[in-house]
Amino acid sequence: MLSAVQIKSDVYWVGALDWNAREFHGYTTEAGITYNAYLILDEKVTLIDTAKVTFKDELIERISSVIDPSKIDVLIANHVEMDHSGSTPLIHELAPGAQIYCSAPQGVKNMTAHYGDLGYNGVKTGDTLCIGKRTLAFVQTPMVHWPDNMVTYDAYDKILFSNDAFGQHFASSARFDDENDLCEIMHQARKYYANIVQPYRTQAAAAVKAVRSLGPDALDMICPAHGVIWRSHVEDILRAYEEDFVSGVVRERALVVYDSMWHSTEKIARALVDGFLAAGIPAQLMDLKENHISNVMDVFLDCKYVCVGSPTLNSQMLPTVASFLTYMKGLSPKNDNRVGLAFGSYGWAPLGPNNVGKELEAAGFQLPEKTFAANWIPGDDQLTAARDLVARLVG
Ligand code: FEO
Repeated sequence: MLSAVQIKSDVYWVGALDWNAREFHGYTTEAGITYNAYLILDEKVTLIDTAKVTFKDELIERISSVIDPSKIDVLIANHVEMDHSGSTPLIHELAPGAQIYCSAPQGVKNMTAHYGDLGYNGVKTGDTLCIGKRTLAFVQTPMVHWPDNMVTYDAYDKILFSNDAFGQHFASSARFDDENDLCEIMHQARKYYANIVQPYRTQAAAAVKAVRSLGPDALDMICPAHGVIWRSHVEDILRAYEEDFVSGVVRERALVVYDSMWHSTEKIARALVDGFLAAGIPAQLMDLKENHISNVMDVFLDCKYVCVGSPTLNSQMLPTVASFLTYMKGLSPKNDNRVGLAFGSYGWAPLGPNNVGKELEAAGFQLPEKTFAANWIPGDDQLTAARDLVARLVG
């Protein structure tokens, strides 16, 4: 039988492990996914979030290892996306008297759209709910990363139930940060931010500020809705968000991302990397045939220089490059102050690289150099010109 994991006195993790999940909305989840739900035993038995509906049996089994699910008095839905709220109808069926709390007005509206009218209680920032010796406080965090997101703070246990914020797509048999490899979970937290939260950097920064405003001794744990629970590295994940993820700081680093048909665009890509290294700027070369776009976005997060290359294929850029640009445009905040460069090879018209340039311009990149295009196979002089171009770009 699956068991709940006690994380504090009368507080349990009752979530589910999706070990074999390898994709989430186009994002590669090479380490799987967890759907975290938390159960608090107080005068009012309270469940915080549920699980994806396909994992409802795992959720119920873990709850049942602690208490009969029909005894649930309160369900808090911090977020309506179905990986967290998907088992709400089942909880409602098993515990029809349970009061459901979600953010107002968007949470109520979105829950109703997903599950019908189950009698939702809308709450706003500053609202509280007494469940016995604990009083839970709600803070709305809209657009981190849906309009209905909120977090729930339990001052008695010093726990922040942060939903998607501070999460990682990471399935593990151990629930806490200090029981897992810190480098791996920090990497997964960064990849998660880069691929899920990045477009809403301003709102995420406000959410982190709200967490900080609780005070330095207010947090023993951050319990996100995905991945491990932060207890030994609370300060590390907060600082990673503040100083890296939501800071908007782009560093003197370069990403050279491309696809190539007959290695001509690749030759230019390698010359550009040489140019960055000669200028003392770390650079990473990523072939879109070999690197998933969600892993490219992880590298992209704090790179000041982003060079994107495609040859011309049927008067267009390669579909792999178009896919990356579409994904990147959706995730990259417009006010990033990044420097871009389009490049590529062509046979009879430089339409592939030129179209990349248009897309970079539309995405808000500064483009101090015009698109670098080479006909057929770039010669040594053109590769030297590509290296020289980098010297001007970083000048
Ligand atoms: Fe993990 Fe926005 O759902």
